[in-house]
Amino acid sequence: MTRIRSVVRGCGSYLPAEILTNEELAKSVDTSDEWIVQRTGIRSRHLAAPGEMTSDLAIAASKAALADAGMDASEIDLIVLATSTPDNTFPASATTVQAALGIHHGFAFDLQAVCSGFVYAIAVADKFLVSGQYKRALVIGAETFSRILDWTDRTTCVLFGDGAGAVILEATEQPGDAADRGVLTTHLRSDGRHKAKLFVDGGPSSTGTVGHVRMEGREVFRHAVGMITDVIKDAYAATGESSASIDWFVPHQANRRIIDASAQKLGIPPEKVVVTVDRHGNTSAASIPLALAAARADGRIKQGDLVLLEAMGGGFTWGSALLRW
Ligand code: ACO
Repeated sequence: MTRIRSVVRGCGSYLPAEILTNEELAKSVDTSDEWIVQRTGIRSRHLAAPGEMTSDLAIAASKAALADAGMDASEIDLIVLATSTPDNTFPASATTVQAALGIHHGFAFDLQAVCSGFVYAIAVADKFLVSGQYKRALVIGAETFSRILDWTDRTTCVLFGDGAGAVILEATEQPGDAADRGVLTTHLRSDGRHKAKLFVDGGPSSTGTVGHVRMEGREVFRHAVGMITDVIKDAYAATGESSASIDWFVPHQANRRIIDASAQKLGIPPEKVVVTVDRHGNTSAASIPLALAAARADGRIKQGDLVLLEAMGGGFTWGSALLRW
């Protein structure tokens, strides 16, 4: 029996022009390229220019995704923008993107699940599409984490970067068998008891300020691999797929050691893992679509490939999505 699936029609990304290397960073905080590379795998990250906002990054990535899909912006029904660094407390930056793309119908909203934001956004958009109510969704992850970093705190400022990525999902009828293209399953989790391990120490209703990222790095690390692999096992159980059938593992790019440990625990070989953390740092909700766009642009991800996404972040939140490109 046929069924409607949310199929990826295009993807695109945008990185701000400025690149900050570990060596340059080590001039302003007490750190070194050697320490950062050994503990995280990060070598450089991009930083938004003064005045360049999250919506600017999101708009550029969205235009690239539309071009990749060969689609006009007027064909988009809904926009879901995953971000923890919106331009303003309100309105949603998604509505700024909507206006800039000249879309005057449908609806747009921001979704906040920190580093898990893109996986959450895929799951939410997928639900709207498979319900049959909407046809095409623009799903974006965009962040300017550089604006909420304490640049004097070496335990956090070396980890993050700015950027944006976007995919366009289209509801299409699929055969309803193992060869179906599109989003096959999504699994979301959160556990608010872990709030103090990774949070921002400000906000509109607490301090009236934006605040800075605070993190117990070791605690985050300790939980990450187990949480990630748990939701991936949920995806396997729901679909009958396994690590053996995965063509590309595109994890949230927080830290090379978390990525490697997760892939190893799952039995996914390194050549099937897409890694961009070395060049992008942790771009939170933007990291997965940035990695997808990179692997698509260099020809790795091809139509029909089985692609596994996962993320874990503040909250804690975590989740997985399995899709056939
Ligand atoms: N440069 C040099 N030294 C540093 C730096 C730095 N940038 N940061 C910390 N140190 C020092 C510490 O002060 C400490 O020194 P001490 O022993 O004299 O006290 C020493 O290095 C060890 O510190 P730890 O925090 O124990 O180092 P660890 O090996 O745990 O690595 C790291 C820290 C990289 C943050 C690690 O815990 C980690 O990767 N955690 C996961 C966090 C993460 O990825 N968060 C991203 C957001 S969540 C997500 O996206 C999943």
